[in-house]
Amino acid sequence: MNFYILTLFPEMVEHALNASIIGRAKEKGILHIEAVNIRDYTKDKHQKTDDYPYGGGAGMVMQAQPIYDAYLALAEKIGYRPRTIYATPQGPSFTQKMAKEFAKEEHLIILCGHYEGVDERVLEEIVTDHVSIGDYVLTGGELPAMVMTDAISRMVPGVLTNEASGSLESFEGNLLEHPQYSRPYEWNGKKVPDVLLSGDHRKIESWRREQSILRTKKRRPDLLKKADLTIKEKAEHQVND
Ligand code: ADE
Repeated sequence: MNFYILTLFPEMVEHALNASIIGRAKEKGILHIEAVNIRDYTKDKHQKTDDYPYGGGAGMVMQAQPIYDAYLALAEKIGYRPRTIYATPQGPSFTQKMAKEFAKEEHLIILCGHYEGVDERVLEEIVTDHVSIGDYVLTGGELPAMVMTDAISRMVPGVLTNEASGSLESFEGNLLEHPQYSRPYEWNGKKVPDVLLSGDHRKIESWRREQSILRTKKRRPDLLKKADLTIKEKAEHQVND
């Protein structure tokens, strides 16, 4: 999968997405992540990419031309106009479901805004999806772009070495993941639940499922209402439709 992050701060994005699992997937050629410097496309003789807002007001607005030219250069290289996310608090909140959906794209552009915003006309021209990472305002779209790139990348086949771990985790079926334990058996006076040492896989699975439900009920009751529970589980945990 190919990510193109349109930004005025390419170094911010490049450093963050080179470590750990994402870095390894890039080395293996499963992911290609390119930070495109919008400033490289400005036609202004002073390399300017922003200007005052029409109508007045505080701050500067990112101009349409450099963003559009950077986008067109990518679209030409790719051979079509790919799906293009604008990172903005004015969109639906990013979810695991969206991460899975975007992971099906071969090419994805993410536009990072800055200052007081981006000229509306270029957004109308290129953006297919407005996406927020939560109801708070950041100074720019770079952190949201990194958050989305990381979450989407994990859903690309081959990025997680243990294929199963992408589906048996938090938010699958709207349930949080069960607790995990590793060695030693006893730490700080606390023992690992015996069922996990029983070797009985059915029992372990059923214990984990139960823990997932209990945990979701306690920590994210809003999610539990949407969870895929059996009729029996709904009755046991008093979940109403
Ligand atoms: N840009 C600034 N704040 C943001 C947010 N919460 N989500 C996405 N992009 C943003």
